[in-house]
Amino acid sequence: MNVAVMGYGTVGVGVVEILRRHGDDIAQKVGQPLQVTKILVRHEYPGSPDTELFVQEFDQILRDESIQLVAEAMGGLHPAYDYIKACLEAGKSVVTANKELVAEKGAELLAIAARQGGNLLFEASVAGGIPILHTLTNCLWANRITRIAGILNGTTNFILTKMFREGMSFDRALGIAQEKGYAESDPTADVEGIDACRKICILAGLAFGCQVLPAQVPTKGISSVGPEDVQYAAGWGGAIKLLGQCSLAEDGRVWISVEPAFVPGSSQLCRIDDVYNGVAVRGDSVGEVVLYGPGAGRFPTASAMVSDLMEAARATGTLPMYRWEDKGDRTADPMTQPTACYLRLEGPGAGDKARELFGQVEELDRAGRPAEEFACITPQLPLGEILLRVEALEKAGIRLLGRMPVSPL
Ligand code: HSE
Repeated sequence: MNVAVMGYGTVGVGVVEILRRHGDDIAQKVGQPLQVTKILVRHEYPGSPDTELFVQEFDQILRDESIQLVAEAMGGLHPAYDYIKACLEAGKSVVTANKELVAEKGAELLAIAARQGGNLLFEASVAGGIPILHTLTNCLWANRITRIAGILNGTTNFILTKMFREGMSFDRALGIAQEKGYAESDPTADVEGIDACRKICILAGLAFGCQVLPAQVPTKGISSVGPEDVQYAAGWGGAIKLLGQCSLAEDGRVWISVEPAFVPGSSQLCRIDDVYNGVAVRGDSVGEVVLYGPGAGRFPTASAMVSDLMEAARATGTLPMYRWEDKGDRTADPMTQPTACYLRLEGPGAGDKARELFGQVEELDRAGRPAEEFACITPQLPLGEILLRVEALEKAGIRLLGRMPVSPL
């Protein structure tokens, strides 16, 4: 079966390399060889072993009826969306690592794939090499999924680990993440939580069957996390992680967010460091399942893409297994979500005032804590209620220096 690869960056090169390196093995597993016959490139790559396969016009792939499988590794919304849509309309199957595209246009593209009898597979779009999408849609299919919490961005987990465990500067840690091919072309998407947001939208779509768009998700990155917060988390026995979370509210709507959170030491997510990602899924029958593995990088991502190509090759002509629908905005009001919060406060009598307003709080400590600084974990309350009490603290002259939710997993 002939394959076209669109994009020849970190991931595209990985896909071509794995297909070449494991060609015989793949042929045996799939029942026929998967042969890359065209690679769509934007530039020349002098000295590349694949020069003969390069094409610069997408139409050369679209009009080539011998190509039934297309691997998209260009990233970005345009022109990837137009290309993938055209391929699906033409009945080709498409495999992609493009989380932006799937998060924004998944419902529409999956419907086209279903109508035209192709597949749209995107295991690589969430958590790199971790097989979380297949796990959700196959192995945990019998469950009603109630909650997902994940470290979904390798770059920020790498930066948090290097900065706070090894004392490296933010710029140096980001530079290494870029050198290693973990970061997005514009790393703001990593640092500000935008990339993790796209991934939690995809997970919510698969878990709850409804499209959640990135613009509907309250999203915060890691730039507000300070060393003091990290010290308090460590003293508490936990860690701060950038978490994408979604859960089902009682009315069937979806609470969803991306933000740095206090993760307790008892959670398996607490010990997931460096570029690794981890996803905890709670299902009504299975309980909690945690998957862990490399979340970014050439070969982990290409591993998921090539496996999807192999599956698409075997499943050509059958319906795609992924599906979610645009049911309008299904997100629940974040202010109604029950949560405990970490608070870092400053001002005279901050501890007493916090106790007055919240009742029993869990007090935290760190080496070198200034006399007027007070940090604690609040009891679990609806977020809106916590914010009202914080407002009352501020009116009483107490400054809020840090606030993060405490992850219940
Ligand atoms: N920039 C992404 C990350 C790549 O760091 O996780 C994998 O999606």
